[in-house]
Amino acid sequence: MALSVRALDTQNPSKPRFPWRDAAVVVAVTLATAFLGIYFEASERLFEATRGYEHLQLDELPAAILALALALMWFAWRRQRELSDELARRLEIERQIESLLADNRRLAQRYMQAQEAERKHLARELHDEMGQYLNAIRMDALAIEQRIGEGEPEVRRAAGAIAQHAGHVYASVRDLIGTLRPVGLDDLGLRAALEHCLAHWQQRLPDVAFSMAFEGDVDSLGEEISLAIYRLTQEALTNVSRHAAAANVHVRLARVHMPGASQDRHQEVMLEIADDGRGADLQRIRFGLGLIGMRERIEMLGGTLQVASPAGKGFRIDARIPVATHGQAAT
Ligand SMILES: Nc1ncnc2c1ncn2[C@@H]1O[C@H](COP(=O)(O)OP(=O)(O)OP(=O)(O)O)[C@@H](O)[C@H]1O
Ligand SMILES: [Mg+2]
Repeated sequence: MALSVRALDTQNPSKPRFPWRDAAVVVAVTLATAFLGIYFEASERLFEATRGYEHLQLDELPAAILALALALMWFAWRRQRELSDELARRLEIERQIESLLADNRRLAQRYMQAQEAERKHLARELHDEMGQYLNAIRMDALAIEQRIGEGEPEVRRAAGAIAQHAGHVYASVRDLIGTLRPVGLDDLGLRAALEHCLAHWQQRLPDVAFSMAFEGDVDSLGEEISLAIYRLTQEALTNVSRHAAAANVHVRLARVHMPGASQDRHQEVMLEIADDGRGADLQRIRFGLGLIGMRERIEMLGGTLQVASPAGKGFRIDARIPVATHGQAAT
């Protein structure tokens, strides 16, 4: 089964319309009754029939029925007004919810942009400051180790240990930088960054066969889309390692023309990540921050995210993001 999440549609709320058909039926029945009454002389016949029962006052019945009909009309009119007011109130609430959702989305977008900017800054600081100094410490310690005489074994051992520790911390910092900022995304482009990411997962999960396919120019999508695709892949592969128990994972990234659009105007980028693992029952699973965050990122860019898990066929994530080209805003 597949699951896609869509925003609440309050763009075209159905407004109450005058019930012309019902009104036509009422008019037709009234006219038919009047014509039949005239044709069969109903009042005269009624008068004749009820004359013998004058003591029961049956001849007053038509006036009472007329009063009942008028009262029912008034009753229906009141209910109709109440319903219209209620509908207007609900439409207003829906409009407010829609506006709150839009605010919320804008806030999430700002938050993610700030988070990415902060991560980028931290990665640069770690690289330029920590990385350089750790490397310098390691080089100095190695120099001491080499130059110190045999007569100072303690100093020699300490210098060796410092070089080793500095190397260890340097490797951790490099890993941390990789998590904060996709390796190679800024300098080499999205394709290289994703290949690096996959190679990293291949190392971590040697029993899983990872494969990847690219179509079209995926290196000029702009920072926002590239980052979204990278983060989505990162989360999806983390999920594979945590939940899937898969043997094969395939990632496909394609930049294509949107169906029906002119050649160089509207394009979209499609990211598909599929595994053949145990899958999940989408009606029952608890959506964590991963899938919700993915959906937020993609929807903020005007795209859609679908998750599917057909019984026995693993798990599949399908994201589509419109790409604005030639100064056109993607909508
Ligand atoms: N590749 C997959 N194979 C099977 N089940 C999956 C896969 N990816 C996600 N799921 C299911 O979807 C659920 C939601 O995933 P999501 O990433 O939102 O949350 P999470 O991974 O459990 O937690 P986190 O918030 O840390 O990401 C998972 O708990 C899991 O049951
Ligand atoms: Mg997750």
